[in-house]
Amino acid sequence: MSEEKRKLIIDTDTASDDAVAIIMALREPSVEVLALTVVNGNIPLKLATRNCLIAVEQAGTYTPPVYVGHDRPLMREAVTAEACHGQDGLGDVGYPDPKLTTEKEHAVDAIIRILEENPAGTIELVTLGPLTNIAAAFMRAPETMKKLKQIIIMGGQLYQPGNWSVTSEFNIFVDAEACDVVLRGGVPFLISPVELCYGDCGFDPQERAEIAALSPTGKFAIDCNRAVVEFVKTRYGRNNLQLADPSAMGVALWPDIRKEVTECFIAVELGGKYCYGQMIFDYKNHLKLPANGAVCLSIDVPLYKKRLKEILK
Ligand code: BDR
Ligand code: CA
Repeated sequence: MSEEKRKLIIDTDTASDDAVAIIMALREPSVEVLALTVVNGNIPLKLATRNCLIAVEQAGTYTPPVYVGHDRPLMREAVTAEACHGQDGLGDVGYPDPKLTTEKEHAVDAIIRILEENPAGTIELVTLGPLTNIAAAFMRAPETMKKLKQIIIMGGQLYQPGNWSVTSEFNIFVDAEACDVVLRGGVPFLISPVELCYGDCGFDPQERAEIAALSPTGKFAIDCNRAVVEFVKTRYGRNNLQLADPSAMGVALWPDIRKEVTECFIAVELGGKYCYGQMIFDYKNHLKLPANGAVCLSIDVPLYKKRLKEILK
Protein backbone atom coordinates (compact mmCIF):
# COMPACT_ATOMS: atom_id res chain seq x y z
CA MET A 1 0.00 0.00 0.00
CA SER A 2 1.36 3.42 -0.86
CA GLU A 3 2.04 5.75 2.07
CA GLU A 4 -0.38 8.61 2.55
CA LYS A 5 0.89 12.01 1.51
CA ARG A 6 1.33 14.78 4.06
CA LYS A 7 -1.19 17.55 3.46
CA LEU A 8 0.07 21.13 3.42
CA ILE A 9 -1.31 24.63 3.22
CA ILE A 10 1.29 27.25 2.25
CA ASP A 11 0.91 30.90 3.19
CA THR A 12 3.18 33.14 1.12
CA ASP A 13 4.01 36.77 0.30
CA THR A 14 5.34 35.45 -3.00
CA ALA A 15 8.55 37.08 -4.03
CA SER A 16 11.50 35.36 -5.64
CA ASP A 17 12.56 32.98 -2.88
CA ASP A 18 8.94 32.10 -2.03
CA ALA A 19 8.57 31.13 -5.70
CA VAL A 20 11.37 28.57 -5.40
CA ALA A 21 9.88 27.22 -2.15
CA ILE A 22 6.46 26.81 -3.81
CA ILE A 23 8.04 24.90 -6.70
CA MET A 24 9.80 22.61 -4.21
CA ALA A 25 6.54 21.79 -2.43
CA LEU A 26 4.58 21.21 -5.64
CA ARG A 27 7.25 18.85 -6.94
CA GLU A 28 7.78 16.88 -3.72
CA PRO A 29 5.98 13.55 -4.13
CA SER A 30 5.50 12.92 -0.40
CA VAL A 31 3.24 15.95 0.10
CA GLU A 32 0.04 17.30 -1.34
CA VAL A 33 -0.44 21.08 -1.28
CA LEU A 34 -4.14 21.65 -0.58
CA ALA A 35 -4.05 25.42 -0.98
CA LEU A 36 -1.81 28.44 -1.31
CA THR A 37 -2.82 31.59 0.54
CA VAL A 38 -1.25 34.94 -0.26
CA VAL A 39 -0.44 37.80 2.09
CA ASN A 40 1.13 41.25 1.83
CA GLY A 41 4.83 41.21 2.63
CA ASN A 42 7.87 41.36 0.38
CA ILE A 43 5.74 43.13 -2.18
CA PRO A 44 2.17 44.42 -2.30
CA LEU A 45 -0.55 41.78 -2.25
CA LYS A 46 -1.52 42.11 -5.91
CA LEU A 47 2.01 41.42 -7.13
CA ALA A 48 2.52 38.66 -4.57
CA THR A 49 -0.64 36.99 -5.89
CA ARG A 50 0.54 37.28 -9.49
CA ASN A 51 3.89 35.78 -8.53
CA CYS A 52 2.25 32.93 -6.65
CA LEU A 53 0.34 31.94 -9.79
CA ILE A 54 3.53 32.21 -11.86
CA ALA A 55 5.33 29.93 -9.38
CA VAL A 56 2.56 27.32 -9.59
CA GLU A 57 2.81 27.38 -13.39
CA GLN A 58 6.59 27.10 -13.24
CA ALA A 59 6.36 24.02 -11.02
CA GLY A 60 4.56 22.29 -13.88
CA THR A 61 2.91 19.65 -11.71
CA TYR A 62 -0.58 20.33 -10.33
CA THR A 63 -2.50 23.51 -9.55
CA PRO A 64 -3.82 23.89 -6.00
CA PRO A 65 -6.31 26.71 -5.45
CA VAL A 66 -4.77 30.10 -4.68
CA TYR A 67 -6.61 32.37 -2.22
CA VAL A 68 -5.93 36.07 -1.69
CA GLY A 69 -5.59 37.30 1.89
CA HIS A 70 -4.73 40.44 3.81
CA ASP A 71 -3.15 43.44 2.11
CA ARG A 72 -1.63 44.96 5.27
CA PRO A 73 -0.47 43.94 8.74
CA LEU A 74 -2.96 43.69 11.61
CA MET A 75 -2.11 46.98 13.27
CA ARG A 76 0.52 48.73 11.20
CA GLU A 77 1.24 50.14 7.79
CA ALA A 78 2.56 47.74 5.18
CA VAL A 79 6.33 47.37 4.79
CA THR A 80 7.65 45.91 1.54
CA ALA A 81 11.05 44.76 0.26
CA GLU A 82 11.35 45.69 -3.42
CA ALA A 83 14.96 46.62 -2.70
CA CYS A 84 15.65 42.95 -2.15
CA HIS A 85 13.38 41.19 -4.66
CA GLY A 86 12.89 43.80 -7.44
CA GLN A 87 9.89 46.01 -8.19
CA ASP A 88 7.83 43.03 -9.35
CA GLY A 89 9.19 40.70 -6.67
CA LEU A 90 10.68 38.37 -9.30
CA GLY A 91 13.89 40.23 -10.09
CA ASP A 92 12.24 42.42 -12.78
CA VAL A 93 12.97 39.76 -15.37
CA GLY A 94 9.66 40.54 -17.11
CA TYR A 95 7.83 37.23 -16.81
CA PRO A 96 4.50 37.23 -18.69
CA ASP A 97 1.23 37.29 -16.77
CA PRO A 98 0.10 33.88 -15.54
CA LYS A 99 -2.83 32.06 -17.13
CA LEU A 100 -4.01 30.65 -13.82
CA THR A 101 -6.40 32.70 -11.71
CA THR A 102 -7.27 32.94 -8.02
CA GLU A 103 -10.32 31.71 -6.14
CA LYS A 104 -13.00 34.14 -4.94
CA GLU A 105 -12.96 32.98 -1.32
CA HIS A 106 -10.78 35.03 1.08
CA ALA A 107 -7.60 33.28 2.22
CA VAL A 108 -8.62 33.36 5.89
CA ASP A 109 -12.03 31.85 5.12
CA ALA A 110 -10.37 29.18 3.02
CA ILE A 111 -7.89 28.18 5.73
CA ILE A 112 -10.69 27.83 8.29
CA ARG A 113 -12.97 25.95 5.89
CA ILE A 114 -10.28 23.49 4.83
CA LEU A 115 -9.48 22.73 8.47
CA GLU A 116 -13.18 22.28 9.25
CA GLU A 117 -13.52 19.82 6.37
CA ASN A 118 -10.57 17.65 7.44
CA PRO A 119 -9.88 15.51 10.52
CA ALA A 120 -7.79 17.09 13.29
CA GLY A 121 -4.03 16.55 13.06
CA THR A 122 -3.95 15.88 9.33
CA ILE A 123 -2.94 19.28 7.91
CA GLU A 124 0.34 21.15 8.29
CA LEU A 125 0.81 24.82 7.57
CA VAL A 126 4.02 26.29 6.15
CA THR A 127 4.36 30.08 6.34
CA LEU A 128 6.78 32.00 4.13
CA GLY A 129 5.68 35.57 4.83
CA PRO A 130 4.33 37.82 7.57
CA LEU A 131 1.82 35.99 9.74
CA THR A 132 -1.16 38.31 9.17
CA ASN A 133 -3.50 35.80 7.48
CA ILE A 134 -2.71 33.13 10.01
CA ALA A 135 -3.24 35.41 13.00
CA ALA A 136 -6.55 36.54 11.54
CA ALA A 137 -7.62 32.90 11.24
CA PHE A 138 -6.57 32.24 14.85
CA MET A 139 -8.55 35.23 16.08
CA ARG A 140 -11.63 34.21 14.15
CA ALA A 141 -11.59 30.45 14.75
CA PRO A 142 -9.11 29.52 17.51
CA GLU A 143 -10.53 26.01 18.06
CA THR A 144 -10.58 25.18 14.37
CA MET A 145 -6.95 26.31 14.02
CA LYS A 146 -6.03 23.83 16.77
CA LYS A 147 -6.87 21.09 14.27
CA LEU A 148 -3.54 21.91 12.57
CA LYS A 149 -0.88 19.27 13.14
CA GLN A 150 1.90 21.83 13.16
CA ILE A 151 3.01 25.17 11.72
CA ILE A 152 6.45 25.53 10.16
CA ILE A 153 7.36 29.20 10.16
CA MET A 154 10.06 30.96 8.15
CA GLY A 155 10.89 33.83 10.45
CA GLY A 156 13.04 35.30 13.14
CA GLN A 157 16.74 35.57 13.75
CA LEU A 158 18.76 33.37 16.07
CA TYR A 159 22.18 34.87 16.55
CA GLN A 160 22.96 37.53 14.01
CA PRO A 161 21.48 40.96 13.70
CA GLY A 162 18.17 41.10 11.93
CA ASN A 163 18.00 41.34 8.16
CA TRP A 164 15.41 44.11 8.17
CA SER A 165 15.92 46.12 11.33
CA VAL A 166 18.84 46.08 13.74
CA THR A 167 17.32 43.20 15.61
CA SER A 168 14.59 41.71 13.48
CA GLU A 169 13.95 39.45 10.52
CA PHE A 170 11.64 40.77 7.76
CA ASN A 171 8.61 38.44 8.06
CA ILE A 172 8.33 38.99 11.79
CA PHE A 173 9.24 42.70 11.67
CA VAL A 174 6.39 43.40 9.24
CA ASP A 175 3.72 42.05 11.59
CA ALA A 176 5.06 41.13 15.01
CA GLU A 177 1.59 41.31 16.57
CA ALA A 178 0.44 38.62 14.16
CA CYS A 179 3.45 36.50 15.09
CA ASP A 180 2.55 36.87 18.77
CA VAL A 181 -1.01 35.68 18.12
CA VAL A 182 0.26 32.64 16.22
CA LEU A 183 2.90 31.66 18.81
CA ARG A 184 0.23 31.77 21.52
CA GLY A 185 -2.38 29.88 19.49
CA GLY A 186 -1.76 26.46 21.02
CA VAL A 187 -0.60 24.71 17.83
CA PRO A 188 2.85 23.04 17.82
CA PHE A 189 5.26 25.13 15.77
CA LEU A 190 8.74 24.79 14.33
CA ILE A 191 10.68 27.90 13.37
CA SER A 192 13.16 28.06 10.52
CA PRO A 193 15.19 31.19 11.33
CA VAL A 194 16.89 33.32 8.72
CA GLU A 195 20.38 32.06 9.60
CA LEU A 196 19.52 28.74 7.94
CA CYS A 197 20.14 30.41 4.57
CA TYR A 198 23.43 32.13 5.46
CA GLY A 199 27.04 31.06 4.92
CA ASP A 200 27.46 27.78 3.06
CA CYS A 201 23.65 27.42 2.86
CA GLY A 202 23.86 30.21 0.26
CA PHE A 203 24.69 29.67 -3.42
CA ASP A 204 27.92 31.02 -4.89
CA PRO A 205 28.22 31.93 -8.60
CA GLN A 206 29.35 28.43 -9.57
CA GLU A 207 26.44 26.74 -7.79
CA ARG A 208 24.04 29.24 -9.29
CA ALA A 209 25.32 28.44 -12.77
CA GLU A 210 24.95 24.72 -12.06
CA ILE A 211 21.34 25.13 -10.95
CA ALA A 212 20.47 27.40 -13.87
CA ALA A 213 21.82 24.75 -16.26
CA LEU A 214 19.70 21.97 -14.74
CA SER A 215 16.42 22.81 -16.49
CA PRO A 216 14.16 25.75 -17.40
CA THR A 217 12.83 25.59 -13.81
CA GLY A 218 16.38 25.76 -12.45
CA LYS A 219 17.00 28.78 -14.67
CA PHE A 220 13.79 30.40 -13.40
CA ALA A 221 14.86 29.77 -9.78
CA ILE A 222 18.16 31.58 -10.33
CA ASP A 223 17.02 34.34 -12.69
CA CYS A 224 14.07 35.47 -10.57
CA ASN A 225 16.43 35.83 -7.60
CA ARG A 226 18.93 38.09 -9.37
CA ALA A 227 17.85 41.13 -7.32
CA VAL A 228 18.54 39.18 -4.12
CA VAL A 229 22.10 38.53 -5.34
CA GLU A 230 22.63 42.27 -5.87
CA PHE A 231 21.02 43.09 -2.52
CA VAL A 232 23.30 40.70 -0.63
CA LYS A 233 26.35 42.04 -2.51
CA THR A 234 25.52 45.64 -1.70
CA ARG A 235 24.52 45.09 1.88
CA TYR A 236 26.95 42.37 3.00
CA GLY A 237 29.69 42.47 0.37
CA ARG A 238 29.23 38.77 -0.48
CA ASN A 239 28.47 37.15 -3.82
CA ASN A 240 26.14 34.62 -2.25
CA LEU A 241 22.48 33.96 -3.00
CA GLN A 242 20.68 33.54 0.31
CA LEU A 243 17.26 31.88 -0.02
CA ALA A 244 15.36 31.96 3.26
CA ASP A 245 12.09 30.41 2.12
CA PRO A 246 13.64 27.41 0.31
CA SER A 247 15.63 26.61 3.47
CA ALA A 248 12.40 26.73 5.46
CA MET A 249 10.59 24.64 2.86
CA GLY A 250 13.47 22.14 3.00
CA VAL A 251 13.01 21.94 6.77
CA ALA A 252 9.28 21.39 6.23
CA LEU A 253 9.48 18.83 3.41
CA TRP A 254 12.55 16.86 4.41
CA PRO A 255 12.73 16.21 8.17
CA ASP A 256 16.03 14.36 7.68
CA ILE A 257 17.84 17.62 6.79
CA ARG A 258 17.06 19.01 10.27
CA LYS A 259 20.35 18.62 12.10
CA GLU A 260 19.64 20.31 15.42
CA VAL A 261 16.13 21.07 16.61
CA THR A 262 15.51 22.28 20.11
CA GLU A 263 12.32 22.89 22.05
CA CYS A 264 12.38 26.02 24.14
CA PHE A 265 10.50 29.14 25.11
CA ILE A 266 9.99 31.27 22.00
CA ALA A 267 8.44 34.74 21.91
CA VAL A 268 8.46 37.97 19.96
CA GLU A 269 9.20 41.50 21.17
CA LEU A 270 6.29 43.88 20.59
CA GLY A 271 7.45 46.96 22.44
CA GLY A 272 10.74 48.74 22.92
CA LYS A 273 12.27 51.54 20.96
CA TYR A 274 14.63 49.55 18.76
CA CYS A 275 13.68 45.89 19.04
CA TYR A 276 10.16 45.59 17.58
CA GLY A 277 9.84 42.18 15.97
CA GLN A 278 12.93 40.62 17.54
CA MET A 279 12.38 36.96 18.31
CA ILE A 280 13.53 35.37 21.53
CA PHE A 281 14.69 31.74 21.39
CA ASP A 282 15.56 30.81 24.97
CA TYR A 283 17.41 27.60 24.11
CA LYS A 284 19.75 28.13 27.08
CA ASN A 285 16.69 28.36 29.35
CA HIS A 286 17.70 31.63 31.00
CA LEU A 287 14.06 32.50 31.62
CA LYS A 288 13.15 29.16 33.21
CA LEU A 289 9.90 29.19 31.25
CA PRO A 290 8.36 26.05 29.77
CA ALA A 291 9.05 25.32 26.12
CA ASN A 292 6.21 26.42 23.84
CA GLY A 293 7.70 25.56 20.44
CA ALA A 294 10.73 24.34 18.53
CA VAL A 295 13.45 25.98 16.49
CA CYS A 296 15.72 24.41 13.90
CA LEU A 297 19.27 25.51 14.75
CA SER A 298 21.07 23.95 11.81
CA ILE A 299 20.53 21.83 8.72
CA ASP A 300 22.51 19.27 6.75
CA VAL A 301 23.56 21.67 4.00
CA PRO A 302 24.90 19.14 1.44
CA LEU A 303 21.76 17.02 1.75
CA TYR A 304 19.51 20.09 1.45
CA LYS A 305 21.33 21.26 -1.67
CA LYS A 306 21.30 17.78 -3.21
CA ARG A 307 17.52 17.56 -2.74
CA LEU A 308 16.97 21.09 -4.03
CA LYS A 309 18.93 20.35 -7.19
CA GLU A 310 17.08 17.07 -7.73
CA ILE A 311 13.72 18.76 -7.42
CA LEU A 312 14.64 21.56 -9.84
CA LYS A 313 15.80 19.17 -12.57
C1 BDR B 1 12.03 36.56 4.40
O1 BDR B 1 11.78 37.83 3.78
C2 BDR B 1 11.86 37.67 2.39
O2 BDR B 1 12.98 38.28 1.89
C3 BDR B 1 11.85 36.21 2.08
O3 BDR B 1 10.82 35.90 1.17
C4 BDR B 1 11.66 35.52 3.39
O4 BDR B 1 10.33 35.11 3.58
C5 BDR B 1 13.45 36.49 4.87
O5 BDR B 1 13.69 37.43 5.86
CA1 CA C 1 8.64 35.16 1.80
